[in-house]
Parts: sequence; structure tokens; C-alpha cells
Amino acid sequence: MSKNIIVFGGDGFCGWPTSLALSKAGYNITIVDNLSRRSIDQNMRCESLTPISDIDTRIRVWKEITGNEIKFVNIDVANRYSAIYNLLLELKPETVIHFAEQRAAPYSMKSPAHKMYTVNNNLNATHNILCAIVASGIDTHMIHLGSTGVYGYNTVGMKIPEGYLNVKIDTDYGEKELEILYPPNPGSIYHMTKTQDALFFLYYNKNDGVRITDLHQGIVWGTNTIETNMDVRLINRFDYDGEYGTVLNRFLMQAAIGHPLTVYGSGGQTRAFININDTVNCIKIAIENPPKHGERVKIFNQTTECHNIKNLAKIISSMTGAKIKYYSNPRNETNRNDLEFCKDFFLNLGLNPITLQKRLLEEIIEVAKKYKGRCDRSKIICQSTWRSDILVDFEGSDSENIIN
Ligand SMILES: NC(=O)c1ccc[n+]([C@@H]2O[C@H](COP(=O)([O-])OP(=O)(O)OC[C@H]3O[C@@H](n4cnc5c(N)ncnc54)[C@H](O)[C@@H]3O)[C@@H](O)[C@H]2O)c1
Repeated sequence: MSKNIIVFGGDGFCGWPTSLALSKAGYNITIVDNLSRRSIDQNMRCESLTPISDIDTRIRVWKEITGNEIKFVNIDVANRYSAIYNLLLELKPETVIHFAEQRAAPYSMKSPAHKMYTVNNNLNATHNILCAIVASGIDTHMIHLGSTGVYGYNTVGMKIPEGYLNVKIDTDYGEKELEILYPPNPGSIYHMTKTQDALFFLYYNKNDGVRITDLHQGIVWGTNTIETNMDVRLINRFDYDGEYGTVLNRFLMQAAIGHPLTVYGSGGQTRAFININDTVNCIKIAIENPPKHGERVKIFNQTTECHNIKNLAKIISSMTGAKIKYYSNPRNETNRNDLEFCKDFFLNLGLNPITLQKRLLEEIIEVAKKYKGRCDRSKIICQSTWRSDILVDFEGSDSENIIN
């Protein structure tokens, strides 16, 4: 069988290091990306803290260093169905990995246009890939990056299972047992698209037998991997702004530039985390353990640890002396929650989790210090809000305006 892998969204924060690691492991990688994330950077006038090279340079340097060729195809997956279909027929990939979605919850809540863009982009991207897999008739395994946020952030008093829940129901005919998808409870338009993705997967698996693994991933921290560290022109993106920056990376960068750590709300919110190196490791494991033909959608929790935001800030503050500042919370969420996940699949298959270690945190602070001159301090505070009473007016209805 061919060792071709298509990485949809392979120019992004998770997709780029994954593409390099898989190329190094001997797979033939084709990156499909419409570079929309780079356009969003331009429109927000806020670039990655690290100076990421353009995609052609990235691929050329990788070939120079390793001799391995990565192909790049610019396709808008949400809008160019035929191009996806033709590419699948041409490459007949063993696996397709789907990272190609608008991935920031705050960005998805910025305005009606951003909500529409996120819904149109994410749902059409997922559906087009699934539809093209079925129409092309190829036998491939689709791996999708979902979010632990699909489960919601209320304290439930148990470990959240990996996707499915066994329930007992009192009926007129006695007690019945059912296995259902864990009830979705999205906290933003972005998370809502991930819960809808799960229904697409359920349907295409049931109706067409598509083999799918949906990875419910925690918040990713860190920046570089062994491969992205091989040359400065391979460096990974580091988002630090209030819209796209993930919380731990934002704290580390804020500590590096002497900005107070920005805790929104009480800081009692508990969230799931994973290091970027473990993202890559988990995807490798998922590739090597595809669902069998006829098997239901595999759903796994791709996270290694949970922390509450206040404690996270305290850890960084005690390491660096950074002050902690509390801001009113732009999100509509509970002030505090407990969170615990089942994560047996990856642990049983040999994942050796990278948890928060001082040395690793210090390495990331060093990266942030090196590039602190590129930071625009006016972008640090989150500008988006979940509250409709203070939504910014938006003229028109064409959600594509926001990335053009
Ligand atoms: N970063 C995290 O903390 C995190 C956490 C949980 C889940 N995830 C999920 O992992 C995936 C990747 O996240 P990321 O952090 O790498 O995001 P990212 O924005 O850095 O990368 C996404 C990539 O997809 C591309 N893309 C978006 N829409 C596209 C389209 N219509 N056609 C072609 N390409 C398109 C973008 O240009 C970008 O390069 C997302 O689905 C995200 O929801 C990320």
C-alpha cells in the first residue's frame, strides 16, 4: 500500500511539525493549505512571534537538509471540492490528516462575519474531504483534530470518557442501556463547528464505512520540535496575541517581555493541555492504529494533563517573577470547573507524556525572549467578546471579506 499522506492544514502550528516528523519517518507528505492563517495574520496586523518562513522556503530547506521532498498544493478545502477529489484519486493516500480549520475560539466570536467565516470554513472543509473520500472510492483513514472543548467545561464529577458514553434510560418497557456520543456542549462558535464535525463523522462512517479517528485535543503548548529546530527557516509558529495565542504560550511570552500574566475571569477555569511534541507523537500513533473496516469512529482524548488557569499563572510567576493581572472575562463560561479525562488509548499504545517541566518552560521563554522585538504589545489583550450586547457592528454579510 502507498505510504502517501495528505496533511490538510500542513502549514499551521500543529500541521507543520507533524508534516516534518512524518516526512522524516518515511512517509510521502503532501501538504494542502490555502495559507488562510497567514492572511488572517496580515488582516489582524499581528504576526507569529517567531519569524516563520514562507511555505516554499520551508519545503526547500527541508529538502536541502534531509533530501526528503514534501509537496505543497494550495487548495481552499472549504471551497474547492473537485481539487480535493482529484488529488485523492492521484495520490490514493493511506491516511489523510485534517488540521484545516479556523481554530481560535476568540476569533470565531469576534463579529458576525467571523462567526460566518468559521462555520463556512470549518464545516465545508470537513464535509468536502469526507464527501471526496467517498466519491473517489479510495480506501483511506481520515484523522481529524477535534477539541476537548466539545465536552463543555462544566464540572461533571467523573472522568470524561473517550467520545462515547454508556447511559441507562428508564422507558415504558423497563431500563434500557445505550451507548451515545458524549453530549456536545460547545462554548464558542469554533467549538460548535467541532461538535458538528463529529456528526459528519458518525454519518459518513455509518453510511459509507469511512474509517475515521477523531482526536479531541487539549490546548497545545510549546513551539518547536526536533525537526523544526533543525534550521531557523523551519521554525514553527508562535501565536502570542489575545485571539490566537494559546494560554500557556501567552503566559510564557508575557513573562519574557515583562508584561503581567493575563488571567481572564477568576482563573478557576480548568483546561486540558498537551505539548506540541506529543501532538506529533499522538498523530503517529493514530496513523499506525487505524480503525478496521466496519469499525465505528475512533474517538480519543489527545491531552496529557489538566491545570486551572490561576495555578498555571502561579507556576510561571514563581519561575520568572512575572506579576499576575486579572481581567474581566470576555468569554461566557463558568468561573471555575473541575476537569478530568480518560486518556487510555494513547497511554496504552506507548505515549510517554511530556508534562509541564521547568526546563521545557524555560526553553520556550528563551524562544520568546529571542524574538521579543517582534511583539506588538497592543495585541496582547483579547479583543473578542462572547457578549452580544457589545458586539462590534458589521456591515454586510460576506464572511469571506475577513480574510481577503
Ligand atoms: N492549537 C491548539 O491549541 C489546538 C487545540 C485543539 C485542537 N486544535 C485543532 O488542530 C487543528 C490545527 O490547529 P493549529 O493550531 O495548527 O491551527 P493553525 O491555524 O495554525 O493551522 C491551520 C491550518 O489550516 C489552514 N486552513 C484553514 N482553513 C483552510 C481551508 N479552508 N483550506 C485549506 N487550508 C486551510 C490554515 O491556513 C493553517 O495553515 C485545528 O483543527 C484545531 O482546531 C488545535
